[in-house]
Amino acid sequence: MADDMMINGDRFTLYLSEDQIRSRVKELATQINEDYFGKVPIFIGILNGSFIFFSDLVRDITVDCEVDFLKLSSYGDAKISSGQVKLLKDLNCQVAGRDIIVVEDIVDSGLSIDFMKRLVMKESPASFRVVTLLLKKSVAKVSFPIDYVGFEIPPEFVIGYGLDYAQKVRNLRSIYRLAPKS
Ligand code: PRP
Repeated sequence: MADDMMINGDRFTLYLSEDQIRSRVKELATQINEDYFGKVPIFIGILNGSFIFFSDLVRDITVDCEVDFLKLSSYGDAKISSGQVKLLKDLNCQVAGRDIIVVEDIVDSGLSIDFMKRLVMKESPASFRVVTLLLKKSVAKVSFPIDYVGFEIPPEFVIGYGLDYAQKVRNLRSIYRLAPKS
């Protein structure tokens, strides 16, 4: 795949390669395997964006685990959050007394993960942790620690590896960032 690409008249450049992502995902899984040794966590993926990271991550998990999904939306087709998180699909699993690991592709403003934590905590889990591939640390407003972070990134618009541009390009194997207009 080229290092540069044009999408809808916008130029994107390679930011995190497939190999960089792969090796970081393995490191995150290794850490989680150590931390959850002897436990049976439930990995909860937040759809749609986390689906590729989620499936790569859980295939490197060696402890017994379960999976479930929840669907949220705050961006629609826009590059900037609407500021309102909508619950489009609820969980099916029983959260009470379980070790929950929420899997996000990106924590940007922090609204989605904040919404998610409040939702899960109402059900009294035994523990709650978050793993995100990307964290926009300088703009994320989160009142709790993000336990596992793949990459801290600047507040730029990024796509690929699950992250969309107007619902497309989630299937790219690498992550690209919007290039400044020249
Ligand atoms: C994206 C992403 C995260 C959320 C992060 O989801 O997948 O869930 O935004 O942004 P925040 O920290 O500002 O809330 P989006 O609402 O675009 O839906 P999608 O996952 O279907 O792309």
